[in-house]
This record gives sequence, C-alpha cells and structure tokens, in this order.
Amino acid sequence: MLNKESNELLCRVGPGTPMGNMLRQFWVPALRSAKLEAGGAPERVRLFGENFVAFRGSDGRVGFLDEGCPHRGVSLALARNEDCALRCIFHGWKINVDGQVVEVPSEPAGSNLASKIKVNHYPVRDAGGVIWVWLGQGEQPSPFPNIEFTTLPVEQVLVRKGIVHCNWVQILEGFLDSAHVTALHKTWLPKDNSTQGTFPGMMGDMAPRYEIEERPYGFMANAKRAWPDGTQVNRATEYILPWATIIPSALKTIHSITIAVPIDDEYCIYWNISWDTENPIDAESYDAVAGIGTLGPDPDDIYFPRGTADQVWGQNRELMKQGNFSGFTAIPIEDFAVQESQGVFADRSKEHLGASDVAVIRMRRILLDMAKDYQDGKTPRSLDQQIAYDQIHGSHEVILGGAVKN
Ligand code: FES
Ligand SMILES: [Fe+2]
Repeated sequence: MLNKESNELLCRVGPGTPMGNMLRQFWVPALRSAKLEAGGAPERVRLFGENFVAFRGSDGRVGFLDEGCPHRGVSLALARNEDCALRCIFHGWKINVDGQVVEVPSEPAGSNLASKIKVNHYPVRDAGGVIWVWLGQGEQPSPFPNIEFTTLPVEQVLVRKGIVHCNWVQILEGFLDSAHVTALHKTWLPKDNSTQGTFPGMMGDMAPRYEIEERPYGFMANAKRAWPDGTQVNRATEYILPWATIIPSALKTIHSITIAVPIDDEYCIYWNISWDTENPIDAESYDAVAGIGTLGPDPDDIYFPRGTADQVWGQNRELMKQGNFSGFTAIPIEDFAVQESQGVFADRSKEHLGASDVAVIRMRRILLDMAKDYQDGKTPRSLDQQIAYDQIHGSHEVILGGAVKN
C-alpha cells in the first residue's frame, strides 16, 4: 500500500518532478533504429512529458533535438531532411545534428542570428536495433548499459514495442509479479511438470515464494514453486534499474528483456526485445518457439490501447468459451488489458498486498529512495559504477526428482 503522496512521487515523471529528474539520468530506449532512414523522414518522440524529434542524416549520424523550431516553435517533425540537417518548412531555418542553426534564410544577408542560436540536442547511441538517448543533467552521459542484445549483430535481435494507456509503474509492476503468470497467462503454459517449452512446470503451484537477492543493478527475484510430487521450479527474474526486467525462459540461447518507458504520466512505451546469442531471429521464428500468443506484424505496434472500460478492453468471451482463460490473444495483451483496467493511475492506497507482491514492494521502495536521494545530490544507484550488463540473464530452472533438467 502507498499513500497518495508516495504514489504521486512514484508515478509522476514530467519536467521538474523528482522521479522524472532521476529517471532522465538513465539511457532511454527511444525508438527503433530502423525507423530512421539516412536522409529520410524525421520521427517525433515523446518521453517524460516532453516532445523531441529524431532524424538520421545522409551520413548516418543521428540527431535528437527538442521538437520545436527555435524560430517560432513549428514542429521539426514536419521538417525536410537536407544535407545532414533539418530544414523547417515554415521559414526554412536549418538545424544540424548538433543542434546548431546553420541557415536563417528569412533574415537579411550578413545576419549573424544563426550563430547565436542553439537547439537543445542530446547524446544518442544506436545499439541493438534501438536508438538510445540520454536526457540527463551533467557534463558527461551516464555509463551506457551494455545489455547483451546491444552487443549483438542486429539480425540476432528482435525489437518490438507497443503503447499502453496507463502509468509506466503499472507496466513495471507486471514484469516483477510472478504470481500472475499462473493465473492470467495460464492459457499459454504447459499443464504438466515437464521441462519442455519456454515456461515449463509452473502450473503446479499458484503461490510462488519469493527470495530477493540484492544486486548493484537492482535485484534478482527468485520465485519458487513446488509440485505435490516434489518437483521444484525456480524462476529468477532480473530487475535492471530503473524500468527493465530480463524475463526468464527455459530456452537455451534466446533471452528477452521488457522495458517500461514513460511517454508521459499517462502513457507508456512497452519494449519487448528478444535476442538469440547464436542465430538470426525474426518475429515469426520467435513467436513459433516462445509460446506467448500472436502479436501484430508491425514491430512498432504490437499493442495499442484496445478500448475503454465500456468495451471491457477488447476482451473476447467467445475465446473464453473455447478454453482461453482470459479472453485475450497473447501474453502481453493480457497484461495490458489488466493494467489499463487498474485505471490510468492505480490507486495504491486501496490495495491489499500479500506474500506474492514482495518484488513489487521492493521495486517501489528502491525507486522512491532513488528519487529522494537524487534530489539530495546523490548519483542514482547503478550509475555510480561500471556493471557488466552483458552477463545478466534470467533463469528458469526445473528440478525433477532432485536432478536439474534445465
Ligand atoms: S518557425 Fe521554423 S523557420 Fe520559422
Ligand atoms: Fe504478464
């Protein structure tokens, strides 16, 4: 349970908020790399309640700027991409990837106005099929999180995202809540205690016991399940501060990360990134082995808000009659329906938390402390050291009759 004041501190991320300021110190996955063609159309990006524009010059460099033209505020998402710079279509001012105004054709010849104006621009990294941006305060960007997929060739990485109409913390809470998997997602889980598939052996116990191990980058949440015959199942989810989890699966070479990035207080980007450490991967091959249901073919639109409370978030009762537990067609879509149904801001003063909510409670505490500490001038936890993110994997272990099978 959180009182109203703590809930506001946890959820609000707009300009000047303590949580928003702290989160901006982390590198943010902003858009898929493939969205930016060299010399092609700029993309509008909204993060933490502020609007930006990203573009790729014909030389391949990426610019990430405040959205408004410095002249009179027209969106640079409307601009032409010319010679590694954006030309505003209103009066033709031209701004390069470094935010420098390089031409002001509406001014008299000889004017030095251009040299005096600079647009806010931000450091970017193009890694793992994602454009990352650093929106923080300070001279130097924070250390970049070299999560394993950012080190692989893009053919081995599958990057997908969706937009969810609720506060980002609700999405993150879902990542850290193992107990819901055996209820909400039971349609997709094997019913026996075999070691086959992505999430084997979970259905024997709906009440996992948590053991949390602190890590410099967050924590590892071990959710332990036991069958009446003695089979034990341990899922270890890695929480990577501030908004990501490596979701455990029993697949050997395929790993997945989910990341909840605030667009603003009321909308969230859900990133679902999977990688194969040995082979190329695509949506078709991944969906065939992952067993999480069918996501849309558009990698930038694997989810969009499915409707309102009046439309019960798109739930399909016919599917339920045919044996589907929840009435939704894929694991992430089940998640977002329940999370949107909590309201845009879940009222955490009314909840009744139990033993299965331990990881959620721990995450809230850590983030609240980090926001307050940052206000007091402390570097956010995990940004004060170099961490080997590429070594972090979740694990899903099934122990049958005392022998480790996975
Ligand atoms: S508003 Fe962009 S050039 Fe005038
Ligand atoms: Fe879920």
